[in-house]
Amino acid sequence: MKPLVHRPRRLRSSAALRNLVRETKLTAHDFILPLFVSEKVETRHQIASMPGVEQLSIAAAVEEAKQALQLGLQAVLLFGIPASKDDAATAAFAENGIVQQAVRAIKAAAPGLVVITDVCLCEYMSHGHCGVTRRDGEHFHVLNDETVALLAKTAVSHATAGADLVAPSDMMDGRIGAIRHALDEAGHHDTGIISYAVKFASVFYGPFREAAESPPQFGDRRSYQMDPANAAEALREAALDVEEGADVLMIKPATPYLDIVWRVRERFGKPTAVYHVSGEFAMVKAGAEKGCFEERAAVLEIMTSLKRAGADLIVTYWAKELAAWTRS
Ligand code: PBG
Repeated sequence: MKPLVHRPRRLRSSAALRNLVRETKLTAHDFILPLFVSEKVETRHQIASMPGVEQLSIAAAVEEAKQALQLGLQAVLLFGIPASKDDAATAAFAENGIVQQAVRAIKAAAPGLVVITDVCLCEYMSHGHCGVTRRDGEHFHVLNDETVALLAKTAVSHATAGADLVAPSDMMDGRIGAIRHALDEAGHHDTGIISYAVKFASVFYGPFREAAESPPQFGDRRSYQMDPANAAEALREAALDVEEGADVLMIKPATPYLDIVWRVRERFGKPTAVYHVSGEFAMVKAGAEKGCFEERAAVLEIMTSLKRAGADLIVTYWAKELAAWTRS
């Protein structure tokens, strides 16, 4: 064999050399911890399809938030489960709604933590859709502009309670602009918007719908969430949200959509987030339980891939574990 000029393996020959040339490094600052706060839970309630993830009372959510901060995390994302639902989602924007109360409690107990709120109506609607619906015969419609008005009200109520960032996940048209306008009108110029700009109609939300008690009672979400087949449309969606004033663009789910993450990050140069969703979480948990791979190694590889693909921020149910795992 001719002498080789290039031997890429040279830089892989020891842990120290590999550490020196590693391009993507994870830290606790990369991760956002989702918390499910429920008005119906005494303390904590384990979610069957998401091992280790719980619905929390406000007091338990405060404990989690304080613990998150101690572990080195900087942000939590709140979801609310109200005591009762109706067909106008009134609990979503109630001054004393579950999320509004949780934001105030967490901000008081852990002022350094960035509190992000999910802005959507599905947990608050008796029918489980993300907006106001109208049925006509066999068909139902999720009404866009009527929904946007309620989302804007919800976002303002979260900001008034003290949320640093609001994260609309509904996929209605024009909601970022409407929310930005409503926040500004209410004097919340400094409340930012993480837009779920590109949210696909995915099977991987299954376990979440148990966690948030929000499965649609009829039909599906394909008339508002995106078709998984579309990439050009994903860029158009992101462009609209940039124009309308989104501060951060989020792509969801994560692993099956790394091409989208990369393109959105490259094209817009905005802080870009991914949501590693409940079904992706459950898959890895199941694989690890079956002995297919070790959980920690699998999670670190996946999170590294998300960051390498362009994600600046990662919403993940492993955020607490990752804070510890990435310290060493
Ligand atoms: C609510 C919402 C969903 C998720 C986040 N916000 C579910 C859905 O659209 O059905 C999914 C998160 C996850 O699966 O972890 N609109």
